[in-house]
Amino acid sequence: MKIKKAVIPAAGLGTRVLPATKAMPKEMLPIVDKPAIQYIVEEAVAAGIEDILIITGRNKEIIEDHFDRAPELEANLAKNHKDKMLGQCIDIANLANISYIRQRETKGLGHAISKARSFTGDDPFIVLYGDDVIMGQDPVAAQLIRAYEKYGKPCVGIKEVSPEAIVKYSSMKVEHLENNTYNITDMIEKPARGQEFSLFSILGRCLLTPDIYTILDRTEPGAGGEIQLTDAMATLARRSGMTGVDFTGKRYDMGSKMGVMQAQIETALNHPDIGVEFRRYLKELSKTL
Ligand code: UTP
Repeated sequence: MKIKKAVIPAAGLGTRVLPATKAMPKEMLPIVDKPAIQYIVEEAVAAGIEDILIITGRNKEIIEDHFDRAPELEANLAKNHKDKMLGQCIDIANLANISYIRQRETKGLGHAISKARSFTGDDPFIVLYGDDVIMGQDPVAAQLIRAYEKYGKPCVGIKEVSPEAIVKYSSMKVEHLENNTYNITDMIEKPARGQEFSLFSILGRCLLTPDIYTILDRTEPGAGGEIQLTDAMATLARRSGMTGVDFTGKRYDMGSKMGVMQAQIETALNHPDIGVEFRRYLKELSKTL
């Protein structure tokens, strides 16, 4: 069965990028001229996704406005013959069928995903973490869908991270299958030093089957007192295994100040409008560093 549904959790408090996120979700932080979450929706659409549920929290109305029509703005652009920008603004509203649900309390990523139950029904679905932008030719969501079609198991997008980083992320117990794919038999969220299985961590994407919901119902708060999606996926992995895809693509953590700046600078260098000028500027600036 083709996977047509995606869930984007975007209800986190974004405390690592305060005060920018005091009144605005981190998912709306721009990368040059597009908010992070638009890159994520575009990745899902490029992977064949048609229906998207965005899980929002307080202050998230601007996400809804961004993916909606904007009659006054459109009228202004039309009047001033800014046809290219007008087309782009209308296209954003037509990217996919997007619906929204509120996570009324920020009790963790696992708790957020449990809100998607009635949207996904009996279908498998992709989860794209709202603050993880991954750029590349081959959408990571599509890489996971292919792995699901091949191995028939829920999947996670993984990458090796540094020993310093693994304690802040999740750590996977892996058996190599072939090429860039692994069988995942266990995992742990934010392992204490020495507790990690490997340096492979989930970075921003997974493909889940509806059995995750009954597991989430029974998952107690874990690291940070939050209901962790990783803890629920660990049960799934121990039960029947998951497939890990060491994906291709460059990932930017829009929930961290460094990630935001890396995304900005690398995207600006290749941007059709400002790329040449920005490269010149950065070369000059680097001489003064
Ligand atoms: P993070 O743990 O990075 O988000 O969750 P956070 O809680 O905003 O992080 P801090 O405060 O900077 O440490 C990963 C993704 O899950 C969403 C976030 O919006 C982000 O896209 N999330 C997290 C929720 O939707 N609900 C939650 O309760 C927690």
